[in-house]
Amino acid sequence: MSFIRPNVEAMAGYVPGEQPKGDEAVKLNTNENPYRASEKAYDAIRAVADRGLSRYPNAVGQAFREAAAALYGVEPDWIMCGNGSDDILTVLTRTFVGENQLLRLPYPSYILYKSLAEIQGARSEEVYFQDDWTLPDYFSQVPTSAPTAPFRVNPLEGGVAPDSLRLVYLPNPNSPSGTLIPVEEIEKIANSLPCPLVVDEAYADFAGVSCVDLVKRNPRVMITRTMSKSYALAGLRFGFLIAQPEMIEQTLKVKDSYNCDALSIAAATAAIQDQEWLQATTKKIVATRERQQQKMRELGFVVPESRANFTWNVCPENNFNHEELYLFLKKNGYLVRYMKYPAWSDGLRISVGRDEDADACLALVERFMNGER
Ligand SMILES: Cc1ncc(COP(=O)(O)O)c(C=O)c1O
Repeated sequence: MSFIRPNVEAMAGYVPGEQPKGDEAVKLNTNENPYRASEKAYDAIRAVADRGLSRYPNAVGQAFREAAAALYGVEPDWIMCGNGSDDILTVLTRTFVGENQLLRLPYPSYILYKSLAEIQGARSEEVYFQDDWTLPDYFSQVPTSAPTAPFRVNPLEGGVAPDSLRLVYLPNPNSPSGTLIPVEEIEKIANSLPCPLVVDEAYADFAGVSCVDLVKRNPRVMITRTMSKSYALAGLRFGFLIAQPEMIEQTLKVKDSYNCDALSIAAATAAIQDQEWLQATTKKIVATRERQQQKMRELGFVVPESRANFTWNVCPENNFNHEELYLFLKKNGYLVRYMKYPAWSDGLRISVGRDEDADACLALVERFMNGER
C-alpha cells in the first residue's frame, strides 16, 4: 500500500532547466539575465548580513511592498512577496483551485502550471494556441468536455460542470514563444471569463507592456512578477503578486509565514528602486534579441516576434532534427533549451545572452546549417 496521495504518485513532476556545475558552458537555456544585477542589491545584502540574521524577517516583506507600490502606483496592500514567482503561483493555485476543480492554461506555455494543478488534485485544461500564437475564443469561455473541438483542447474526461473553472493562467509574454497578447485582448478575455485571470508577467519588462492598469480596473485580474529575469536575480529567489487588496488578503493566509528571507527582501527592494539599472540593461538585451531573431530567420528558422529575453526557433524543413542542433551547440559549449511539446512542434528556445555569446552561438548555428556536425 502506498502512503503517497495518488495524484502526486501519478504526476511526473516539473523538471527545471539544466544547471551545469561549473562555468564550462555558456547558459542560454533558462532565460537568466547575462548581466550582473544592480550593485545596490549586493550592497543591501552585505548590509543585512553585517547587521546579523538572528531575527525573523518582516513576514510580508513590507519594505519591498512599499517600493513596488510606489513604482506601480498602487498601495502596499496590493502587493504580496514570494520566494520567486513560482512560490506566488503555488500560493495562487492553492488559494483558488480545489480538488477536481479546473485550472486553464494555454499550450504550449509554462509547464509548471500543470504540475501545480496536479499537486492540488485538480484538473488542468490546456487550450492550444493557434498557429499564429493567438488564442482561440474558447480560451475565455466556460469549459466544455467536447474532446474534438477545433481549438484542440485536451479531452476533459468525465464531463465538466460550467462552474468548475476556478483559475486561468496566461503568461504574457508567453514562453516558449516570446509572443505578446495586447492588453486590450487580455481585458476582453478577463471580462468574459467566469473566474479570475492570472497574467504571468515574468518577461513583461522586456516587452515594456503590462496589465497593471487592468488590475486596477478589474479585481479578477492578478499579475505575477519576478526579479529573476529583468533584474538579474534568479539566484536570489524573489517574485511578487500585484492584485486588489481583497485578493491579497486571502493569498497572505496561504503563503508560508516567512516565505521571503531578510537578504532577499533587502536586495529585491534595492533592485526595484534602481530603475535606471533596469532601463539600461533591458535596452541592451532587447537590442541583442532583435539581432538574434533576425539572424535566426536568415538561417531559415521560423521565429515568432519575441517580446521577451529569448527566441523560439523552429526550422520548418522536413527531417530537421532540433535535438541534434541542441547537442551540437552543447558540445561546443553553448547550452540552449531543446523543447519537445507533444502534439506540437519541437524547437529550440535560446535565451538572449551578452552580445559576444549570442554572436558565437549564432555562428555555431550557421556552421550546423552548413552541414558541420
Ligand atoms: C513564464 C514563467 N513564469 C514564472 C517563472 C518562474 O520564475 P521565478 O524564478 O520567479 O520562480 C518562469 C521561469 O522560467 C517563467 O518562464
